Amino acid sequence: MKLFAGTSSKALAQKIAKVLNVPDLSVEQHIFPDGERRVRIPEKIVGDSVVVVQSAYPPVDTNYMELFFLIDAAKRSGAEFVTAVVPYFGYQRQDHIFRDGEAVSLEVIIRILESLGIDSLVSVDMHSVKIPDMFTVPVRHVSALSVFAEEIKKQGWNTGDSVLISPDMGGIARIKEIADILHMSYAAVEKNRDRTTGDITVTSVQEGSVIGKKRAIMVDDMISSGKTVLLGAQLLKKQGIEEIVVFATHAVLSEDAPERLEKSLIKHVFVTDTVVVPEKKQFAKLSVLSVAPLLAKALEK
Ligand code: R5P
Repeated sequence: MKLFAGTSSKALAQKIAKVLNVPDLSVEQHIFPDGERRVRIPEKIVGDSVVVVQSAYPPVDTNYMELFFLIDAAKRSGAEFVTAVVPYFGYQRQDHIFRDGEAVSLEVIIRILESLGIDSLVSVDMHSVKIPDMFTVPVRHVSALSVFAEEIKKQGWNTGDSVLISPDMGGIARIKEIADILHMSYAAVEKNRDRTTGDITVTSVQEGSVIGKKRAIMVDDMISSGKTVLLGAQLLKKQGIEEIVVFATHAVLSEDAPERLEKSLIKHVFVTDTVVVPEKKQFAKLSVLSVAPLLAKALEK
């Protein structure tokens, strides 16, 4: 296996390579004055199984273009089997037409990747479990829930006075899965999103689910603006929950999400390294857990 890291996933690729005991090979990159990018794989890879690691978080279009070029470079250089590891798969939330006239952005990205000739794809906590079925190549869908469950146990939060909460009904399968691992109770918040403005409202949490509970552990696939978990936290507080912690796989952290979360009533936020959190977006309440061992395991299969 020859593993190459794109610029959005350098540290994660290094960790994966370390677990797999393979070299993390470098790619030549050049950005021209007009912003266009040239990538080159200097290594001989004819007949090899090549893995390209590049996450598609913001700037999502730029990171995708680099991924496309890396795959093309690998194919043209004679790789026999190309696996794209895209830890955060940008555009996945637009997985169908919500309103007439919209593009299905996710399908566009999938078509591009497949037309470039990827042979398989690995990604982490995709927005819906149905997304892998939209590909014609095999997809290994890795879940960070086992990492979250370990941390919850380490913190001693897998107790009767804690409840696992999905901040929306869309995350119910996810919350059931982690509740099964931890043998804990769970519930979901009822959330609505205005499709035109993107505004979120939360209305309720399943009746009776938080009675007698002291701590709520919210689990979600991603934090972008942070509004979903913040509104969920406010609702839970009103229901008498004393302590709220959040686990979310992808730390997209758009706009002023870091400040919003730091100042909020949420006690701590755990994310993974599918998205790199730059220094200016880091905040005291944030901890990053690694999914590198899970990705390495998926690549071994
Ligand atoms: C939505 O369905 C997702 O699971 C997340 O809850 C959502 O994308 C988070 O976005 P934000 O942080 O902007 O509320």
